[in-house]
Amino acid sequence: MSDFVNPSEEIKNNAYVKDYEKLYKDSLEHPDAFWENVAKELFWYKPWTKVIESKHPYYDWFVGGQTNIVANALDRWQKTEKKDQLALVWEGQDGKVVRYTYQQLHEQVSRAANALKSLGVKKGDRVSIYMPRIPEQTIVMLASAKIGAIHTVVYSGFSVQALKSRIEDAESKIVITADGYHFRDKLVETKKTVDDAIKDNPAVKKVLVVKRTGNPIAFTEGKDIWWEELVSKQDSICPTEILDANDPLFILYTSGSTGTPKGVIHAHGGYMVGVYITAKYIFNLRSNDVFWCAADPGWITGHSYIVYSPFINGVTNFIYEGPPDYPDAGKWWSMIEKYKITKFYTAPTAIRALMKYGDAIPQKYNLSSLKILGSVGEPINPEAWRWYYRVIGKEKCPIMDTWWQTETGMHIISPLPTSPLKPGSAGKPFFGIKADVVDEKGTPVAVNTQGYLVLKKPWPAMFKDVYKNSKKYTDLYWGKIPGTYFTGDFAKRDSDGYFWILGRNDDVMKVSGYRFGSAELESAFVAHPSVAEAAVIGKPHEIKGESIKAFVILKVGVQPTDELKNELKQQVRKLIGPIATPDEIEFVPALPKTRSGKIMRRVLKAKELGQDLGDTSTLEG
Ligand code: WTA
Repeated sequence: MSDFVNPSEEIKNNAYVKDYEKLYKDSLEHPDAFWENVAKELFWYKPWTKVIESKHPYYDWFVGGQTNIVANALDRWQKTEKKDQLALVWEGQDGKVVRYTYQQLHEQVSRAANALKSLGVKKGDRVSIYMPRIPEQTIVMLASAKIGAIHTVVYSGFSVQALKSRIEDAESKIVITADGYHFRDKLVETKKTVDDAIKDNPAVKKVLVVKRTGNPIAFTEGKDIWWEELVSKQDSICPTEILDANDPLFILYTSGSTGTPKGVIHAHGGYMVGVYITAKYIFNLRSNDVFWCAADPGWITGHSYIVYSPFINGVTNFIYEGPPDYPDAGKWWSMIEKYKITKFYTAPTAIRALMKYGDAIPQKYNLSSLKILGSVGEPINPEAWRWYYRVIGKEKCPIMDTWWQTETGMHIISPLPTSPLKPGSAGKPFFGIKADVVDEKGTPVAVNTQGYLVLKKPWPAMFKDVYKNSKKYTDLYWGKIPGTYFTGDFAKRDSDGYFWILGRNDDVMKVSGYRFGSAELESAFVAHPSVAEAAVIGKPHEIKGESIKAFVILKVGVQPTDELKNELKQQVRKLIGPIATPDEIEFVPALPKTRSGKIMRRVLKAKELGQDLGDTSTLEG
């Protein structure tokens, strides 16, 4: 057992789950009983008649049950002492602090819900949200869910084209944004981006604007409405919509190798059960915890582990607006000290970026409140793991390396606080999850061999469908290896049954933990008048995990200059967002393609990294 990092006695004594192996075995033998027992810990207007109904590859969970995720996140606390506990503590990059108890947050959400209603938003309507990391972002997501509308959040690091296509696909009639925000010392004009994104979209009737900076913005009377003016005059009571367990809660877009971004749909009942229990068991959540998930609510990590599961578990939830290293590399550590954070959850890219400043900076802060640390979004290299464990967790906080996806909604493979840990491994599957590593025919591969990571049993927080594109749902996720859910990741399993995630096997990139599909980036290049064709790959990067490299074919007669490279970088920033800025651009005369004309990015990547090209039998001759 020498290669394991073992939990302390204190952690073992305080954990909900003491015997993973036994409960795991039971949960696979009787998944209905396992999930039903979890669901019973939550509030339902009407209980379900069936735990799971399979119409493979579609699954309905808690069929016949009626609930609303907000009834569990907020309403049910109002008649208990918890109503006076802090629910949300927020600090802005400018030092402004906002604190809401569970009662105050409930009132804020109710006012916002009434405001949405006053604008004509009804059950089933899509509500596009494009906001910085301010309290109103979380509030309006909860407000949308409360009235049965479907929120579709676009991360504020995205730009015009990315926002435009997502608003259009969702057919939203309303967009909620802010006048702007400061990212480091730069003003980001979110309202202006919204104006550009909807200028040819008459379906959007109203834009609700939170005043965050007070910078001047274009304001169209009748269409643009100030949040403060509308929300403050609303009643603080708003009935929560009673919903079917399988009614949609949100659509979150993620892009792939072809076509427009995919709208991943999640529903209230199963999602609520999945995020609740994973957060509870994996972070060992207790009422007095101060939980900080340093992601953005605009990504799935923020949806599941900022906006919903901390409140469902009744903890105090902390949100900080700014980046980890501004104005200095001690900023996040100072937040942990100031707010006595007990459970801290971030991405390897942030850990690596902060590690590079050395041990002295975190050592200046009192981090003794920490009990459990988390990692998510990309593989964490053992070196970063050990630094996080030693310097931040002082060798007493286990690290939960949680593997999951937008589509899975909840953690799928992760250690528990009591697990013996292996630095760099995401551990074993959560209860009820059957994960395997297989070859392209679906046959399990040998121990320590790379293969495709698949899931062989449904889980409650699984996505329901791809919005308006069921073919993608059935083909991309369930059609590759029949009968199993294809994750798109490579993995291996070692002789102890631990999973090691080895990165994507498709054209999806993870850049600083952000997920990008090649299609969206390439179309931003091709939108430039000088570009004939483009292919984008991810290259290993020490801090970011991956960096973006583009291969570009110019139109006949266009000169390949450095100025043009810069112009193309600016173009991608402007259309997709600063987070998608390519690191490298190479002008090429041709791209490797299959005989049917598909770009073989795998070949470009292997060449770039000096690797064996693998099977190229389908390559154009
Ligand atoms: C990657 C983020 C290694 C993986 C929650 C997955 C990880 C993709 C881990 C989903 C982890 C996520 N170790 N890789 N702990 N967690 N990934 O949809 O490639 O933004 O398929 O969801 O991130 O990214 P998404």
